[in-house]
Amino acid sequence: MAQASSGPGTLPSEEELAQAGLRLVVNGPVARITISRPEKRNAMTGRTWTTLARIGQNLHKEVRIVVITGEGDIFSAGIDLKMFTPEGVDGERSIVTGLVDGSTDDAELDTYITELQEGFLWLRRPDLVTIAAVRGHAIGAGFQLALSCDLRILADDAKFSMKEPALGLIPDLTGTKPLVDIVGVHRATEICLTTRQVEADEARELGLATLVVGADELDGAVDDAVAALLEIDPEAAAATKALLWQAPDNTLEEQAAAERVAQTGRLNALAKTMRPGS
Ligand code: ACO
Repeated sequence: MAQASSGPGTLPSEEELAQAGLRLVVNGPVARITISRPEKRNAMTGRTWTTLARIGQNLHKEVRIVVITGEGDIFSAGIDLKMFTPEGVDGERSIVTGLVDGSTDDAELDTYITELQEGFLWLRRPDLVTIAAVRGHAIGAGFQLALSCDLRILADDAKFSMKEPALGLIPDLTGTKPLVDIVGVHRATEICLTTRQVEADEARELGLATLVVGADELDGAVDDAVAALLEIDPEAAAATKALLWQAPDNTLEEQAAAERVAQTGRLNALAKTMRPGS
């Protein structure tokens, strides 16, 4: 069942989730988000991403694990291509109309893209571990959504592709940094500028897949990962994730100092639990 108002704010209603092509089930510390527009191969719209951002902002603090998957045999066909047509998607602004008629300026477009990116950025939060469970295609924005997660558990029929350049665009939904961090700038250039498919086995070799399993084993593999992650103390998990995320930008000395600070916090917290009367 989706939470109503038990979190820091109000989660999107069932109706709002359905309009955004999403389903949300929260069970204690685990939130499961399903991209659910199977008739459009789980293509996503601006509303999908602003609604994802609202989920992130309003999840109950008890939630520690977020699993994102797609309905049926596909993760997502990426952005709904109708977003680029003058008529747009029902109830949503078209991306192109305001640019064609000159009523949207660059600053407005920047603000709009910032709002969409919020749907992806929260998945990096240190207090959460996020898992993309991927079956079939994860194209464009779908690939970027999977890249926003900490772990990518793939069925052996999974296929990633970064299609944006084939549409004359760039990948702007926060996927370029994790892609480069994982595969390096040269391989990332090749993947983006050929827009080719990266299938599950290659994804594992490149480090894009945390794990590849048979299609009928995907749910079990995700459940196993969730169970293992829940074994770890939440504060130790959050401090470790925060530390790991600093590492690429730190020198060895800076990272060693960050480890000392984080461990001092952890040891003090552990010592507190050992004091008489605690
Ligand atoms: N946007 C809108 N509708 C879509 C999208 C999409 N991205 N992808 C699929 N659909 C719709 C199709 O139009 C079709 O609708 P219809 O039944 O009303 O004609 C329905 O979903 C089924 O699509 P098929 O192409 O018939 O499904 P198939 O299983 O053969 O292929 C695949 C699936 C590979 C995902 C193919 O649909 C595809 O390549 N889609 C476009 C992918 C794309 O270019 N995405 C944008 C990337 S860039 C970005 O995300 C920013």
